Formats: sequence, C-alpha cells, structure tokens
Amino acid sequence: MTRATIAGLGTAVGHRVVTNHDLAESLDTSDEWIVERTGIHERRIGGSCLELGAQAARLALNEADVDAADLDLIICATCTPDQVFPAVANRVQQELGAVCGAFDLNAACSGFTYAVTLAQSQIAAGMERVLVVGVDTLSRFTDWEDRTTAILFGDGAGAVVMTAAQNEDRGVLSTFMGSEGRFADLLVCDFGDYIRMDGKEVFRQAVRVMVAASRRVLEDAGLEASDVSVVIPHQANLRIIESAMKRLGVAQDRAATVLEVTGNTSSASIPLAMNAAREKGAISDDDIVLLVGFGAGMSVAAALLRWGQ
Ligand code: COA
Repeated sequence: MTRATIAGLGTAVGHRVVTNHDLAESLDTSDEWIVERTGIHERRIGGSCLELGAQAARLALNEADVDAADLDLIICATCTPDQVFPAVANRVQQELGAVCGAFDLNAACSGFTYAVTLAQSQIAAGMERVLVVGVDTLSRFTDWEDRTTAILFGDGAGAVVMTAAQNEDRGVLSTFMGSEGRFADLLVCDFGDYIRMDGKEVFRQAVRVMVAASRRVLEDAGLEASDVSVVIPHQANLRIIESAMKRLGVAQDRAATVLEVTGNTSSASIPLAMNAAREKGAISDDDIVLLVGFGAGMSVAAALLRWGQ
C-alpha cells in the first residue's frame, strides 16, 4: 500500500499575545493557578480561519516545493469556520490558486488527525498531493468572563502537504478514528452561545481515549510504546498529556508541547506542536511519531508515522 508522508509543514497563530497575567486583570484567577492546572502561560488571539489557514498552507506548500495548482485535494479540519458555508477549505483553495476539490471536516480537536487519516487513504487510492489544514479560532466562541474556559483557548493554524513516501518504510503506518457519542454533552458550543464544558470529566475521559487510541495504532503497526520517539498529542492541558504519557509508558520528555504559548488551538494544536518539536530538533528521519487527538464528541483519533520522505 502506498503510504502518505509529510512533505511540508507550516503554521500560523493569532497576532495578539494574551498572557495569564492579562486574564487575571479581569478574571478571578492567577498565573499560578492556570500554570499549575493547565501548563498554559499565554495564548495567541486574532485572525480568521481563512487568514490563518492560508498563511499556514502557503508555508507548507513552500516547504514541500509543491505548487498549489498541483494539489489534488484540500481537507480543512475546523470546528469554528468563518461562515456556516462555504467551507473554509473553498476559501483557502481560492486564496492559494488551487483547482482541486476542497472540503471542511469537523471532528473538533481530533480534526487534524482525522484529516491526516483521510489524506492517507486518498493517497493510497492514487492521489499525489493532499493539503491538510487544521485551523480554529476558538476565541470567537470563548466567554471571556468565564474563568473556567477563558484560560484554555487560543487561535491558530497548522498545515501539512502529504505526498506518497518515496521510501516504502516511511509515512503513515496505521490510523484510528473513534467517537464516543455518549459523552457528547461534556463539551458543547451551541449556535449563538459560548463553549460550555464539564472540565473534570473531559479530563478523565480524554486520558482514557488517548491511551486506548494510541495502543490501538501501535498494535496495528506491530510496534510497542517503547518504539515511539515522539508523541504529538492534542494540546489541551499539560496535565492530560502527562497522565496519558504515564499510562502509555512513554517518557514525558518524548511528548511534544506548544500549549505553553498557544493554549488549546483545537484542530491546529497537533501541527503547531509538531512544528515546535521540529524546531527543537526533536524529530529525525525514521523516528516513530505518534499523533493523538481527542475532543468534543467525544472524538478521538491517532496516527502512527515513520518520519521522512
Ligand atoms: N482560576 C482560579 N480558580 C478556578 C479557575 C480559574 N481559572 N477555574 C476554576 N476555578 C476554581 C473552581 O471554581 C473550583 O473552585 P471551588 O473548589 O471553590 O468550587 C476550583 O477552582 C477547582 O475547580 P475544578 O474545575 O475542579 O478544577 P480542575 O482541577 O478540574 O481544573 C480545568 C479545571 C478546566 C483546568 C481542568 O478540568 C481541565 O483542563 N479539563 C479539561 C478541559 C479541556 O481540556 N477541554 C478541552 C478539551 S479538547
């Protein structure tokens, strides 16, 4: 089977930095409380999904040395589109000058990993170049007077160009897409309303589904947790990541994080963390890289890759 691999990566974040200290000026909270419970120090706010998504996509195309006109498909993972329709993906397509099919996918914070899974299947079916964009502007749906949610979220985008791996051992090894609709009421954003959640229960279920999805893709690829070089988890809360890593039996320093400076950017969080890990030199060719996302739904998805072209 042809495996898809990441040929280019690009990111973008909101232009305005909002620190915990900024939030503590208007909310009954503190930098200490937020850092202790979440690991977040600041978040970036601003920009539309189109602006952030197109910016990240251009960087990814540039790095992959792929012309937008040569793309076969654009999948945009988002749960905060700029409009009900058209899809963000259609606007991004126009902005880039692409001529291929384009659609949005909403799997909340699991969206990016769901989209990587679909890109893998389309490349296995014969497509050559698929652009995956994860973008969310959660600040527009955040109640800035609610200290239980306002501390968590930020705006951002990450994009990858996926192509067929030249080396047949590299690329996507296994994928998993899951949903537990019985937990759909734990994290909700109704039309005209803000994000509402049962934080404690989301925390508990998130750890469980992340570990189960990770084990599943490892098993499907015939690998062990000890084979994983880098875990790139959804960036919701450092404590969730730490609990999941512990249960999975992977050393904490193998988890890529960026939430310290971005907050939870939903569909953008995994590519943003991937970029941060890469900038630190933490990912090398042939490394086994585990992407694992979870979110409202409750949705969960994982993808295991052997890094490199
Ligand atoms: N600053 C100070 N105090 C706060 C606060 C804040 N920002 N937010 C809540 N509190 C208070 C609560 O009111 C509560 O006070 P009480 O004991 O007097 O009632 C106390 O802190 C503990 O609240 P609790 O909700 O039990 O805290 P927690 O340890 O569960 O942490 C979250 C809250 C939101 C940080 C945590 O539950 C979490 O991150 N959950 C996952 C949410 C998530 O990731 N959602 C997106 C998934 S994609």
